[in-house]
Amino acid sequence: MALLFMCDGQVPTEWEPTLRAEIPDLDFRVWPDGAGDPHEIDIVLTWQPPRGLIATFPNLKAILSLAAGVEHILRDPELPPGVPIARLIDPGLQTGMVEFIAMEVLRHHRRECEYRAQQKVGDWTLLRQTLSRDRRIGILGLGHLGAACGEMLSRFGFSVSGWSRTEKQLPGITSHTGEDGLFKLLEQTDILVCLLPLTPDTEDILDATTLGALPRGAVLINAARGKHVVEDDLIEALDSGQLSGATLDVFREEPLPADHPLWYHPDVTVYPHAAAWTLPESAAPVIADNIRRARSGQPLFGQIEVRRGY
Ligand code: NAP
Ligand code: GLV
Repeated sequence: MALLFMCDGQVPTEWEPTLRAEIPDLDFRVWPDGAGDPHEIDIVLTWQPPRGLIATFPNLKAILSLAAGVEHILRDPELPPGVPIARLIDPGLQTGMVEFIAMEVLRHHRRECEYRAQQKVGDWTLLRQTLSRDRRIGILGLGHLGAACGEMLSRFGFSVSGWSRTEKQLPGITSHTGEDGLFKLLEQTDILVCLLPLTPDTEDILDATTLGALPRGAVLINAARGKHVVEDDLIEALDSGQLSGATLDVFREEPLPADHPLWYHPDVTVYPHAAAWTLPESAAPVIADNIRRARSGQPLFGQIEVRRGY
């Protein structure tokens, strides 16, 4: 029984000792050179696996994502049916996202972008403040990340609403569901935060219609996936003043091409998919728990429903 680590962008030499601290006899192999006999691989730990590769391991017990999002795994048309897949539910990822959303909501709420523009030209003008209770935050996705962000924003005193597939009862958060609920939330949102998984139902969800349903001058913070946003529609909404700003951590094409207009738009803040990282020191215990679960035939923690896409 061996675990295969298959993840560009993560350093296997950081993961091997942290996972071995949890499971001392773990046979840790690194794709491609160290994979060895495919029959011996029972767990794959991955993010963006090459299409068709996972099907080459005939004795697989689990596919564990190194990320919260699993769309990069699900895009593989040859995934072996019946092998459970888990998304990552990691306290470090959650803390990172809560920090990022706090930073960006507060920046927009306190008009930081306008003050920086004023500083460039030596303009000492006070801009009117708004009470946090009068700032309406709408969160798309009230899962492990969205709910934690909503609870933090509600503790700041913001007026928080959220949208999810199923209804939620979360302290300080008004819950909406369904298409009607989506538009009800959008119509009452000053700062829209996207923390949805990317699925066939949520792809392109932020387009001219939904952005147009926001009050004029609203702000978008997208820390979910680039394909949630129709980027041409977003640029048009910014240019027309329908949106006054956007913070974008994710893009349809990553890295964002050097000549992409979003790099240079005066009302856009760009991050290089940096909102929340998977760090071995936080995620290894969660992953080790799922390795043990898979090997003893128990359901995985964070097991996804393939049909649903998350
Ligand atoms: P999660 O726990 O699976 O939560 C997903 C939420 O979205 C749930 O509340 C779910 O509703 C809702 N949802 C899904 N499909 C929906 C639909 N069609 N209509 C309405 N609501 C829907 O996921 P998570 O751990 O919070 O992560 C969310 C996403 O954040 C990830 O998938 C990933 O794309 C992104 N992310 C980005 C970064 C970054 O650095 N930028 C880092 C981590 C994660 P129910 O609760 O009713 O099921
Ligand atoms: C990062 O984008 C993640 O899905 O964890």
